[in-house]
Amino acid sequence: MPVLLYLNKEKIVILTGAGISAESGLSTFRDSGGLWKSFSVYEVATPEGWEANPEIVLEFYNQRRRKVALAQPNAAHLAVAKLEEAFDVTIVTQNVDNLHEKAGSTKVVHVHGEITKARSSADPALISDIGYEDIQLGDTCDEGSQLRPHIVWFGESVQNMEAAAKHVEEADKVLVIGTSLSVYPAAGLVDYAQASAEKVLVALEMDHLPDGFRFYQGKATEQIPKIIEKWMG
Ligand code: APR
Repeated sequence: MPVLLYLNKEKIVILTGAGISAESGLSTFRDSGGLWKSFSVYEVATPEGWEANPEIVLEFYNQRRRKVALAQPNAAHLAVAKLEEAFDVTIVTQNVDNLHEKAGSTKVVHVHGEITKARSSADPALISDIGYEDIQLGDTCDEGSQLRPHIVWFGESVQNMEAAAKHVEEADKVLVIGTSLSVYPAAGLVDYAQASAEKVLVALEMDHLPDGFRFYQGKATEQIPKIIEKWMG
């Protein structure tokens, strides 16, 4: 009687931020040259800013969406996607781009929304795929309300946090890539990692390191393939 070997793959959770997409040409937020150096967070990333001037908000995301359309996943996204060959991998990303999906990752949890989706400004449950299309003033959902980007603005409730925290809690390895860990509650996800889990963080620089995380300073496209090669080895 053949014995069914159930391969219990180790679980890896990867928490990513804007830094993993920087080398694909997408701006980060707080680095020099970051988006919040040239745009007012209040004006383009709050419900108040939307109420005050929706056209400025729509154009801000239309510009970013056009860049995402042209962006390609880089060596870090591709290395992370390759991990799925040997591990049970879940990506929890603060990014609204779709580069993890373009790289072939299959389990991607977005906590700050997705720029390729729009939603009704009246009913947050009414979400539609728009790909890389602009959203203009006057574009409405089926119920006639103005469409807005499906993005979590400051002061709005973050998505999928319960599921994301559970994934981190269950992880054998937690890999944090390209986030300053400065925006909560997403930044607090690192605190759910078990003491027994292997914890690694890759960034260009960090103001503070979460407890127990080993810091690899450098570019994601240089550091991540080396870490993944070691894990797959
Ligand atoms: N390789 C690795 N890390 C990088 C690279 C790179 N090439 N370039 C930048 N970084 C790192 C920086 O060192 C920094 O730690 O990426 C991080 C970028 O930090 P932020 O700009 O604050 O981006 P992020 O942490 O994703 O911001 C979180 O803030 O405004 C909100 O909703 C927005 O999701 C975003 C959240």
